Amino acid sequence: MSLKITVIGTGYLGATHAAAMAELGFEVLGLDVVPEKIEMLQRGEVPMYEPGLGELLRKHVTGIEGSTGRLRFTMDWAEAADFGDIHFVCVNTPQKHGEYACDMSYVDAAIASLAPHLRAPALVVGKSTVPVGSADRLAAYLAAHAPVGEDAELAWNPEFLREGFAVQDTLHPDRIVVGVRSERAEKLLREVYTTPVTEGSPFIVTDFPTAELVKVSANSFLATKISFINAMAEVCEAAGADVGLLAEAIGHDDRIGKKFLRAGIGFGGGCLPKDIRAFMARAGELGADQALTFLREIDSINMRRRGQMVEMAREALGGGSFLGKRVAVLGATFKPDSDDVRDSPALNVAGQIHLQGGQVTVYDPKGMDNARRVFPTLGYARSAVEAVRGADVVLHLTEWREFRELDPAVLGRAVASRVILDGRNALDPELWRRAGWTYRAMGRPTA
Ligand code: UDX
Repeated sequence: MSLKITVIGTGYLGATHAAAMAELGFEVLGLDVVPEKIEMLQRGEVPMYEPGLGELLRKHVTGIEGSTGRLRFTMDWAEAADFGDIHFVCVNTPQKHGEYACDMSYVDAAIASLAPHLRAPALVVGKSTVPVGSADRLAAYLAAHAPVGEDAELAWNPEFLREGFAVQDTLHPDRIVVGVRSERAEKLLREVYTTPVTEGSPFIVTDFPTAELVKVSANSFLATKISFINAMAEVCEAAGADVGLLAEAIGHDDRIGKKFLRAGIGFGGGCLPKDIRAFMARAGELGADQALTFLREIDSINMRRRGQMVEMAREALGGGSFLGKRVAVLGATFKPDSDDVRDSPALNVAGQIHLQGGQVTVYDPKGMDNARRVFPTLGYARSAVEAVRGADVVLHLTEWREFRELDPAVLGRAVASRVILDGRNALDPELWRRAGWTYRAMGRPTA
């Protein structure tokens, strides 16, 4: 008999995981505590923008014409507990308000709601990013609060998906990491992941703390790579060198690699910034804070980039105040192919200029609704051309394909002054310069 799977939490991670599990052939029940989310998902609609996820949901959600019917949603914990042989916990672990530490309240609440209903042997698998040591604590809680006792077992299986590539990353992961305490748990997880679709992904079996640490150390490494190249960009700016060519040249060394070396206004989103902070906080609790002091510098290089972009804009406007200046901002999300504006460097830069008196108009292909919610006092336009109308300077802050495909000549006719600052090093400088623009990018010489 095929395994039945529940997925607790239907955000980016959970909605994608649930749809992917259905795609792998399992019967899946997704649970969330927010009724609107459940209603949307049950209609096959995705609560966020994620390429390919809507199609995958509609392929499997029960009641949708032509679907496999393998996926449905509920708010009922008892139903979820009875349904699943394996329960994946995919809830959010944000940064605590006013602190660096990770807010574990959603994970704790999920386990506390599920445990009393577990009357038959079950495997509960954490996927959320948590401070090392959490799995140990949660395993003890489960055994103590589930009617089935020790037969309610825990495992940890961190998720490495990127927004914008969530479906692809879930179905074809670079690696699968499982922290387990029994052969039974390992066997069940191998059964889940050893399908023709996920075949070929390395399967790494380890203990709880290693599994938890793999996730935060991977994200710390990625953050370090980005801040490293941004630090080089600062030096390039001072020395008149070109960080784009520098990144390409060092990237040819396989040991370094080309990826994650794009200099610009730095990293944001719901993961990298909060994960490195929570990691520092946890290391401090463990008495290992010295080991991670470098992450403080990674964070500060990253945050500094936003201020440097603001200063670049000020300089392009002749220095002094932003008062009375019109600033067009292309991009609001923390990266392209996502509508997520959490800790978005683009929105932060737009906000700083606005708070200093600039008249800021933002356009983003998918992030407008979220940006409006987070920063309602900014100006918003319905297109790039509308955003740049009358602008004294244009800032390119999220590298959407739509922006790379813009015609600089068309935009040139709408602006007051043809000056574009590329905060992502993603536009073609020659294209813009040929159309009469002053093009400047972070870490590259001004031509
Ligand atoms: C990240 C990890 O990549 C993923 O494995 C983990 O599961 C969750 O966190 P995500 O937040 O979706 O994924 O975004 P990612 O593609 O890693 O980009 C993070 C930020 O870094 C973005 O703001 C992006 O613009 C920035 N970035 C990325 C750079 O500034 N330069 C680069 O070279 C690469």
